[in-house]
Amino acid sequence: MVANRAPLALQPADPYRGLPERLVKGAGGLVTALSSLAAATHAVWVAIARDDSDRALMQRGDPASLMTDDGTEYKVAFVDPGREAYDLYYSVISNPLLWFIQHYLWDLAREPIVDEATQHAWTNGYLAVNRVVADRIVDEVGRSKLPPLVFIQDYQLYCVAGLVRQRLDDVRIQHFVHIPWPTPQYWTILPRTIRDSIVHGLLGADVLGFQTSRDVRNFLMTCEENLGLTVDMRERTVFFEGRAVWVRNYPISVDTAEFLAHAESPEVRDEEARIDQWRPEHLILRVDRTDLSKNIVRGFLAYERMLQAHPELHGKVLFWAYLQPSRQDIDDYRAYLGSVLSVAARVNRAYSRGGWTPIRVEIEDNMDRAIAAYRNFDVLLVNPIYDGMNLVAKEGPLCNRRNGVLVLSENAGSHEELGTFALTVNPFDVDETAQALYLGLMMDARQRKARIGHIREIVRTNDITRWIALQLQDLRELIG
Ligand code: G6P
Repeated sequence: MVANRAPLALQPADPYRGLPERLVKGAGGLVTALSSLAAATHAVWVAIARDDSDRALMQRGDPASLMTDDGTEYKVAFVDPGREAYDLYYSVISNPLLWFIQHYLWDLAREPIVDEATQHAWTNGYLAVNRVVADRIVDEVGRSKLPPLVFIQDYQLYCVAGLVRQRLDDVRIQHFVHIPWPTPQYWTILPRTIRDSIVHGLLGADVLGFQTSRDVRNFLMTCEENLGLTVDMRERTVFFEGRAVWVRNYPISVDTAEFLAHAESPEVRDEEARIDQWRPEHLILRVDRTDLSKNIVRGFLAYERMLQAHPELHGKVLFWAYLQPSRQDIDDYRAYLGSVLSVAARVNRAYSRGGWTPIRVEIEDNMDRAIAAYRNFDVLLVNPIYDGMNLVAKEGPLCNRRNGVLVLSENAGSHEELGTFALTVNPFDVDETAQALYLGLMMDARQRKARIGHIREIVRTNDITRWIALQLQDLRELIG
C-alpha cells in the first residue's frame, strides 16, 4: 500500500488536559477508507515522512510496526525525501496546483501563473518525491516472497506506477485516484510535459480506479484527446506501450462494522452528553476539513438566507460547523479559513439575540466528537463544489439516531449512489441550498425515516469490503 500519508500519526502529549502522547488515525478520507484494509492484510504501507513527528516514528523501525491506541497494528515504511523536496511536492504541486485543477478551483482569469518556479517544483519536488517512493517500492518488492501487488493511492503519486513498471516486469499495480478527474480541456492548464507525465505515469498501472463513472469517462477522454492514445470507451481500456490498462470506477466507502462499533463507544457517548447540554431543537451540521472544495462559506450564506426567510426558526436552530484544520501551510487555505470565520462571525453578529447564536464553528480534529455530531444532526449539509466521494455523506447517515436528512451537492462523488435519497443541491446556488436546509428540517418523520433507511442500506451493502473485493476481482481477471 502506498500513499502520501501514513495510516496513523503521532499526537503530542497535551499537558493541560493530562493526555499522554498517542498514535491516532491519520486525517482525511483516504486513510479512513484504507487503514482497516492495511491492518487486515498486514501489507507494508509506504508513506512519506511529512514532518518531525513522522520522522520520530521512522526511528521505531524500518518498516516500523506501529499500534494505534485502539490496538490496530500497521507496518509503515517511511521514506524521507527531505524538507525542501517535500515542500515543493506537497505545498506547490500537489496542493494547490493538482488539487485545484481536479476540483475546478482556479479562478482562471487570474490564476494559476505557470512559470519556471512551477517547472522547478515539478522536477525537484513532485518527480523527486515520486522517485524516492518508487525506489522504496522496488526494495520492498525485492524483500517479499509473495507475488508483488502494489496499491498506489491518489494525486500526490501519479508518476510512481510508471517508475516502478520501468524497473519491474512482473508486478501488478493498481492506482486509485480518490479525487475527481476533470475534463481534458481543464487539464490543459498544465504545460504539456507535466500533464503528459501524469497520464503516462498512471498508465504504468494495470488497473486504474476512480470514484465515479464520470471520472472514468473524463480520464478516457483525456487519454484520447490530450495524448492521442488509443482508447476503447466501451471496454473502458487504454492501450499504452503494448499493454491494455483497465480504467474502472469503485466508489469508496467506510468500514461499516468498525465505524458503528466506534459510534457505540464510551468516548462518543461522553461527547454526546456534552452536545446535549447546548443543542437546540433543530441542529444543522457540517463536518469537513477546512478545504476550499468543501464550500463552507456558501453553506453559511445559504443558512443566512434560510434565517431571513424563516424568523420563526430564530432561537430554535443552530448550524454547527465542525471543521478539521487542513493544509495551513498553504496561503489559499489560510485565507479561506479566515473567510469562513469572518462570514460566520458576521452572520452571528446580525442574528444573535437573547443568548442564541445561530452558528457554532469549532476547528478541531477529534473523531469521537465528529461521530457524536453525526449521531445528533437533523440535517447534514454536504455541499462541496466538487468532491471525489465525500465520506461524511456516508458516515453521517450510517450512525445518525434522529432520522436526519442529507442535503447533498450534485457534484459530490457520493451523489451517484445516494442522490435519490438525499435532497440534491447545486452547490453554487445558495437559494436552492437554503430551501433544501429548510425542507430537511421540516420533512415529516415517515419520509425522513424512509430516506435515511435507503442511504444506510446502500452504504452497508457497498462498504469498504466490497470496494476492495471488486478491485481484487478485476486484478484477478486481468491476470487471467
Ligand atoms: C483527501 C485526499 C487525501 C488526503 C486527505 C487529507 O482525502 O484525497 O489524499 O490525504 O484529503 O489531506 P492531507 O493533505 O492533510 O493529507
